[in-house]
Amino acid sequence: MRNVTLYESPGHRFILLNESDAGEEEGVRSNQYLVAHDGQGVLLDPGGFGVMPRVLVEMLRYVQPEQVKAIILSHQDPDIVGGLSTWLEMVEAPVYVSSIWLRFLPHYGISGMHRFIGVPDEGLSLEPAPGFHLQLIPAHFLHSEGHINVYDPVSKILFTGDIGAAMLPDNQEFTYVDDFDSHIPYIEWFHRRYMGSNKAAQAWVNRVSKLDIRMLAPQHGPVYRGKTVQQFLDWFARLQCGIDLMAADGSFAMDATP
Ligand SMILES: [Fe+2]
Ligand SMILES: [Fe+2]
Repeated sequence: MRNVTLYESPGHRFILLNESDAGEEEGVRSNQYLVAHDGQGVLLDPGGFGVMPRVLVEMLRYVQPEQVKAIILSHQDPDIVGGLSTWLEMVEAPVYVSSIWLRFLPHYGISGMHRFIGVPDEGLSLEPAPGFHLQLIPAHFLHSEGHINVYDPVSKILFTGDIGAAMLPDNQEFTYVDDFDSHIPYIEWFHRRYMGSNKAAQAWVNRVSKLDIRMLAPQHGPVYRGKTVQQFLDWFARLQCGIDLMAADGSFAMDATP
């Protein structure tokens, strides 16, 4: 699978930078995104260490390193932060991440912490370059305690981090979710076990329901479009997950593995 242009209009693009041909990183396959506006770029969750060279090559088809104006991390996990030291050498841009993770990130061996900007719990309106607007939207406890989404008002794409993430079998790969019911087996266990609680899910669904959303773009698995956007929101708002499923003795009312 090649890069996928999720949205394109004069001067504006939202691109899924594909790393899956790289085959250099064990673990969960991840999506990296580039939002480009009038020749300036913003990277969303640029990925783990093993995929960095391939993601860089793909990014260079659209923008040069000096045109990258911001890197936004949805949360603190290794599949997101693992490649960051190398990115910091390649690009000058500031890095945005929830303020609650700032003091932990140096443990990834990152020396350029002065370039990090803490996103407050209530989110942030960002203008990475003149006329280029992005909204950083709180999505806490889904799963990370400091988790942020990114909404692009031009493409109407909401980057959802781990929310909506699918764990597809190795031999399966597709770009879009078009049939929600058949997609549930790939998302159910992950959301029930990793997401914090139904309270957090409902709060997030209420918040993002105020946005005009054309696509939900998660950090893992295919992108939701068309009617599957609302179907996912409805499903997630009802989902019992995380501590909802935890019994008094600490056990979970679900299988330990998918
Ligand atoms: Fe995560
Ligand atoms: Fe993830």
